[in-house]
Amino acid sequence: MTILKSKAACTDFLAVRIKGERIILSPISSEHARDIFCEFTEEITRYMMPKPLGSMSDACEFIEKSRKNMEAGTELVFAIVRIDSGKFLGVCALHGNEDHQTPELGVWVRKSEHGNGFGMESVRCLAEWTRENLVFSYMTYPVDRDNIPSRKIAESLGGVVLEKRVRKSASGTTLNEIVYRIKLKR
Ligand SMILES: CC(C)(COP(=O)(O)OP(=O)(O)OC[C@H]1O[C@@H](n2cnc3c(N)ncnc32)[C@H](O)[C@@H]1OP(=O)(O)O)[C@@H](O)C(=O)NCCC(=O)NCCS
Repeated sequence: MTILKSKAACTDFLAVRIKGERIILSPISSEHARDIFCEFTEEITRYMMPKPLGSMSDACEFIEKSRKNMEAGTELVFAIVRIDSGKFLGVCALHGNEDHQTPELGVWVRKSEHGNGFGMESVRCLAEWTRENLVFSYMTYPVDRDNIPSRKIAESLGGVVLEKRVRKSASGTTLNEIVYRIKLKR
């Protein structure tokens, strides 16, 4: 099992809310199913390992599985929501790794909101929360070398190149990944 170790004796990850200036990260739930199904498109997954969800029932299954994993403490999967309007913006996550020490950050933002700083703010908030609340050695952030906005996010968090690797995504695309190492303290 790949548990995310909390500094507190016990943490209910499903009760966690992380507030930024413009966004709040709240545990993904069934109310986000339609947005996730509609917005997690081929274009969004171009540089990601997963492929788009084929149906609403796949989206519901993804949410249910994510919440079970949060309950078990193996990953954190948050909806990114605008504080002012409540609009769903995307998903930001931290996945436990087998060594229990190097959780992996991930993020996607709906296409219509790209370039508005929400990706940066979300990952920064989650990384800061992780630094304050979890026990780990460093976070990882794998990015395709051509995914410039995402590389900028990793680098702005002090990410340094840990390794380079080639992987096939679930859509069958070859990903030329740079894995950034994001330290405990900047
Ligand atoms: C990667 C992603 C989450 C970035 O989110 P975003 O909200 O659009 O990005 P931001 O507005 O926060 O910008 C992040 C940085 O990239 C820069 N940037 C944004 N769009 C850019 C573009 N098209 N070209 C170059 N730089 C860009 C921003 O200026 C910012 O850098 P800065 O702080 O140095 O100015 C978003 O593009 C996305 O969802 N992509 C599809 C899914 C994906 O690839 N996820 C990441 C997998 S590793």
